[in-house]
Amino acid sequence: MVEANPVELNPAGLEPPHLEKIPQHVAIVMDGNGRWANARGLPRTAGHQAGEHSLMDVVAGGVQLGLPEMSVFAFSTENWKRSPEEVRFLMGFSRSTIHDDRDTLDNWNVRVRWAGRRTRLWASVLREIRQAEFQTRNNTGMTLNLCLNYGGHAEIADAARAIAEDVAAGRLRPADVTEQTVADRLYLPDMRPVDLFIRTSGEFRTSNFLPWQSAYAEYYVTDVAWPDFGRRQLWEACRAFGGRERRFGGAVDRVRSEHSDEG
Ligand code: FPP
Repeated sequence: MVEANPVELNPAGLEPPHLEKIPQHVAIVMDGNGRWANARGLPRTAGHQAGEHSLMDVVAGGVQLGLPEMSVFAFSTENWKRSPEEVRFLMGFSRSTIHDDRDTLDNWNVRVRWAGRRTRLWASVLREIRQAEFQTRNNTGMTLNLCLNYGGHAEIADAARAIAEDVAAGRLRPADVTEQTVADRLYLPDMRPVDLFIRTSGEFRTSNFLPWQSAYAEYYVTDVAWPDFGRRQLWEACRAFGGRERRFGGAVDRVRSEHSDEG
């Protein structure tokens, strides 16, 4: 495994573009690590290692661009189905990544948070996450949500269970349950709606990532595998986002004036 250089926040000659409209929350499915590695005759784990560099580069690019919030899918509730060796690797790797990158993220004024389910998550991983959350809690730059042992269905089911408990305890009446009641019980209730949802490595799937929050997200799929994705590609995706017309269920009548004009 070749050691990658540490990622710099503002390397010389790498300026972010000036974009008129930037997404307020970018969600990323960092896919293709295993295929990237296997295509080079390397084990899948080498792809995850290369992916850490991409993650830090993309975070740096997000900070440079002034993105308020980014969420990354580091380990899904479905990833437990992988081989015990890969699961063990991914847990240990998550732990060391968070440990090793915490100070850098802090220096970049990034606020780190965790979204996911406690069950099965290694206690040592959770400890590193909690430390990163604590260390960066007052940072005012980009918020980085690490979605680890995260699944969208699990998140909504957990919210439903919390609502059921409140109803059973007499704290909430069923008639008072609204969309906001559910939103308030998600893992990070103040998470912004996802504006831009990026998936690397060419698959047109959302894979149970932030389904509630992404209801009106714009989707951007690239064939680039995650280890080859970096800040330039993030900026390109944000530029594409700026060209999308968003209606949020509304509609605009665009009959041309020569057809609608009687006179
Ligand atoms: C998907 O590729 C990637 C993962 C399951 C892990 C991604 C994790 C990182 C990049 C490290 C970041 C860690 C933290 C804690 C933030 P895949 O294995 O599904 O690739 P494939 O589709 O080619 O098989």
